[in-house]
Amino acid sequence: MKKEDLKHGLEGVAVAISSISYVDGEKGKLVYRGFEIEDLVENSYFEEVAYLIWFGSLPNENEEDFIKSMLSKKRNLPENIVEMMRLFPENAHPMAVLRSVVSMLGMYSKEDNSTLENAINLTAKIPTIIAYWYRIKNNLPIIYPEEHLNHSENFLYMMFGELPEYSKCFDKALILHMEQGMNASTFASTVTSSTLSDIYSVITTAIGTLKGPLHGGANEKVLEMLEEIGDIEKVPEYIDNLIRNKKKIMGFGHRIYKTYDPRAKILKKWVQEISAHEKVDFFDIALKVEDVVVERFKDKNIYPNVDFYSGILYNHFGIPKEFFTTIFAMARIVGWTAHAMEYRKNNRIFRPRSIYNGPKDLKYKDMKGVE
Ligand code: CMC
Repeated sequence: MKKEDLKHGLEGVAVAISSISYVDGEKGKLVYRGFEIEDLVENSYFEEVAYLIWFGSLPNENEEDFIKSMLSKKRNLPENIVEMMRLFPENAHPMAVLRSVVSMLGMYSKEDNSTLENAINLTAKIPTIIAYWYRIKNNLPIIYPEEHLNHSENFLYMMFGELPEYSKCFDKALILHMEQGMNASTFASTVTSSTLSDIYSVITTAIGTLKGPLHGGANEKVLEMLEEIGDIEKVPEYIDNLIRNKKKIMGFGHRIYKTYDPRAKILKKWVQEISAHEKVDFFDIALKVEDVVVERFKDKNIYPNVDFYSGILYNHFGIPKEFFTTIFAMARIVGWTAHAMEYRKNNRIFRPRSIYNGPKDLKYKDMKGVE
């Protein structure tokens, strides 16, 4: 293999055929199973869209009952795991906790667990892990899941002990994050699945990949950046300084979208609507950051991505920034598991190549005693 064969970051390489979602990076479109994201966000809700992504069509009444019941009955965690969570270091990052607890859950399951039922079961448990960690970390009593509440309401209830008025908007934000083709975490988890490993390993891989700041971890970094800027007047200088130092501006740019990310557009609209009647922290600074970044990068088509405005919304909802990426994971598990299972139908282990450029023909020599 020659250096010219290298596809750095696998740019432009297709690794699977999929009917789950379609991303049009030129037109800024995101489609789940044929439905535009704007339509789903407007008219649907988490359980229904999850069913659509997993099963390929919208549920009828019986199927809707089935998915709602599956997602509400499997929320509890084994008590042993809760006890272990109490021993975790209190400053452990929520994504590290989520990754570790999903991995621990794998010990409680039979190895042959890569079925849709297991995927739904794990999807039901993710909000519980996140909320329990929030409560444990803050020395608050755990709030157990409530079967009569829907997926989003139950999560917010387990976090805050009440049903906030924004739970519908939160639910819609989850829909926006559910699926996005062969992104880094979906690819990583599909690789793990392609070895016929189990679903807990698949999702542990995915969470570890999502955690990075170039991927889902960007939402937390965006809020850190906005806090650091602190004043709308300081925006141009702050951004120019990042550009001068060749630093990435968090929440901007995308491998596929070369226009405005449709998810960012929707999130921005929601924040705009909320800010019409109440103050939304950091929104004015964020708008200015967007203006400056888009202007500075007008030749490179760099626009806000999904992670730019989501953090401002979650922050407004009272969710601490270190939990932002766990919310992303709570939604994206639907896409991860759908892809892992779809790929299994025509499975072939992933095994790409690297191009060796190290030394050859060295002869062993004992280096002991050589200073
Ligand atoms: N800030 C500054 N420059 C940027 C940015 C950015 N956020 N994004 C892209 N560029 C520049 C980059 O420097 C490069 O310039 P040049 O061609 O002169 O070297 C050019 O645009 C192409 O960038 P790239 O890094 O080669 O693009 P990529 O497709 O490999 O990376 C990305 C995509 C999302 C990792 C990148 O845009 C980035 O690091 N963004 C910031 C982190 C972020 O917001 N991540 C969230 C991604 S979207 C949702 C998700 O996956 O969670």
